[in-house]
Amino acid sequence: MRIAAVHGPNLNLLGRREPEVYGRHTLSDVNAALADEAQGVGAGVECFQSNHEGELVDFIQQAAARVDGFVVNAGAYTHTSIALRDALAAVARPYVEVHISNVFARERFRHRSYLAGNAVGVISGFGVASYRLGLRALVEHLREKEIGEQAR
Ligand code: DQA
Repeated sequence: MRIAAVHGPNLNLLGRREPEVYGRHTLSDVNAALADEAQGVGAGVECFQSNHEGELVDFIQQAAARVDGFVVNAGAYTHTSIALRDALAAVARPYVEVHISNVFARERFRHRSYLAGNAVGVISGFGVASYRLGLRALVEHLREKEIGEQAR
């Protein structure tokens, strides 16, 4: 089983960016934690970050051919991007939306997500652990699905 983790804008600055909100872990720490978690559950993970909406769309389209699902922290594009929603819908791979902060405890504009409606689920507010939890939840979901398909 193979998973892609997608990191949106400004997440390259993790560790330095508003540490009171996002903590001190860097994106490399997050990617290492994801690799560790994936190995623990017998999966593989590849990670991609971009500050550009179109690059994120390109990555989702291309990665879909080699992965079973996505863990997505689209950053601010969560709240604005119909293009990312459509890309995820187009490739039809299950995905979990994750956020480091609890977006529902923050400004109103962060309460709306264009991605959540098509996601398997949303994990928000557990710091960088949200990614590990998201990956684990996605793998469990995919395994359940596999078992369901085999039984049919
Ligand atoms: C974020 C929350 C978003 O509202 C924000 O724009 C981010 C990070 C999070 O992980 O908490 O860039 O997705």
